[in-house]
Amino acid sequence: MSFSPSSQIVCNLPRVTIVGAGRVGSTLAQRVAEKNLADVVLLDIIAGMPQGLALDLMEARGIEIHNRQIIGTNNYADTSGSQIVVITAGFPRKPGMSRDDLLKINAKIVVEAAKNAIAHSPNAIFIVVTNPLDVMTYLAWQATGLPRDRIMGMAGVLDSARFETFIALELGVLPADVKAMVLGSHGDLMVPLSRYATVNGIPITELLDAATIERLVERTRNGGAEIVELMHTGGAFFAPASATSVMVESILLNQSRLLPVAAYLQGEYGLEDVVIGVPCRLGCGGIESILELTLTDEEREGLHTSARSVRQNIERSQEIIRNS
Ligand code: LAC
Repeated sequence: MSFSPSSQIVCNLPRVTIVGAGRVGSTLAQRVAEKNLADVVLLDIIAGMPQGLALDLMEARGIEIHNRQIIGTNNYADTSGSQIVVITAGFPRKPGMSRDDLLKINAKIVVEAAKNAIAHSPNAIFIVVTNPLDVMTYLAWQATGLPRDRIMGMAGVLDSARFETFIALELGVLPADVKAMVLGSHGDLMVPLSRYATVNGIPITELLDAATIERLVERTRNGGAEIVELMHTGGAFFAPASATSVMVESILLNQSRLLPVAAYLQGEYGLEDVVIGVPCRLGCGGIESILELTLTDEEREGLHTSARSVRQNIERSQEIIRNS
């Protein structure tokens, strides 16, 4: 007996393109494939590298028990027809490097990646992961010309997961039972909303004193830097990849999860023409809606301070693009 594939049947499996096959990109490729969410195209400019990683992931499929295709490529034509494009390409901050230096290098990389990817997947939803996150998302929005519901940045899910981890460690409870929401930009000026953090519905303000909560908030703000200091070379990638995969999943499976997402604001929270982390409902169309929470004066001031700093960097990035 022999089987031959029928030429009549065309299976349109969802496809996720990941631009940048560094540690975040390749770990995300593994998460997306092994969660059985989509076929993955992993693209990088380094010849052979994404191809090698893709083959390695393909060879794990029998053990991990899934049948998703993982393609490694240096050619954007191979990414065509993707439902989601995730941009992780760019450099992480090295010791001695300012945020401005990073802004300069990564602005060009992200703009080019966004333009190339949209040309081959005009209907895709874009998720930006490259730092400085909020500015890079703005640049990708500009470069693609996409409506704002189809382009977003990943940071809030990661920052919230870190806050949840530190709360869980402090209380000795299951991390999945802790829920928290961190808004604002990805960096020192992020805005963890302590009064909305709960352990299975019980506010943490009932369980921890104010000084302890402040200590956990500070650790969350420095969450990325703490890992860079420990590792010396490079930064976090497991949790960033997990956080991105949750956004990919909510979109592909139309889960409508309410997640903190870096979104382009047009008046929400009193902010205009800036990308910043706010609670968004993520479904198959991308950002289905933005939730406007009632904030205390302090939280609102924190969010606006965060937005002012992103705005300044957006203006710097516009100069860089003009002069490049
Ligand atoms: C961090 C990087 C990914 O926060 O921004 O670890």
